[in-house]
Amino acid sequence: MLHAHTSNQPAPQQHPRDWAKATDKELIAHVLERYHVRHREQLPELIGLAEKVERVHAEHPDVPAGLAAHLVDMLQELESHMQKEEHILFPMILRGQKNMAVGPISVMESEHVQHMEALQKMLMLVHQLQLPEAACNSWRALYAGVGELRDDLMEHIRLENEFLFKQSASSGEHGCCGGCGGR
Ligand SMILES: [Fe+2]
Ligand SMILES: [Fe+2]
Repeated sequence: MLHAHTSNQPAPQQHPRDWAKATDKELIAHVLERYHVRHREQLPELIGLAEKVERVHAEHPDVPAGLAAHLVDMLQELESHMQKEEHILFPMILRGQKNMAVGPISVMESEHVQHMEALQKMLMLVHQLQLPEAACNSWRALYAGVGELRDDLMEHIRLENEFLFKQSASSGEHGCCGGCGGR
């Protein structure tokens, strides 16, 4: 007899992914779709919101003065960084040339340090996301988005530093037995 499947159990994909077990190809696809695309959406939105809040509340003592300009700088730095990953480093990794990419990887890692410093400055400008009493909806949306950007960028950098850029991380679909002499 057939049984109707009415299970409402969550799909297994809802569990957090263990990226240590992912291939470089899977990691790169995830980084591009989840973070590179998202940063290119969220930063222009936040710049527009920051300009509005800074203009409307220019006289408020807690206004995040200088935030829009800082986000413009962050977008430019991130865009340049992501293009280097997309056009130079990620294709090398996908061709199995991670061991030849020591130079580009160290450049990307030092830019990640600069991104973390930019995040610290961003959080200082928004007073560690402390909203003033009776903040308007735009101000609330701005700080919610800034918090999301902080979380996204930190996780983006963590995945690249801890997994994708590590020489010992999974280096593609083909496990190496060592018998080929590393070729
Ligand atoms: Fe990236
Ligand atoms: Fe990166």
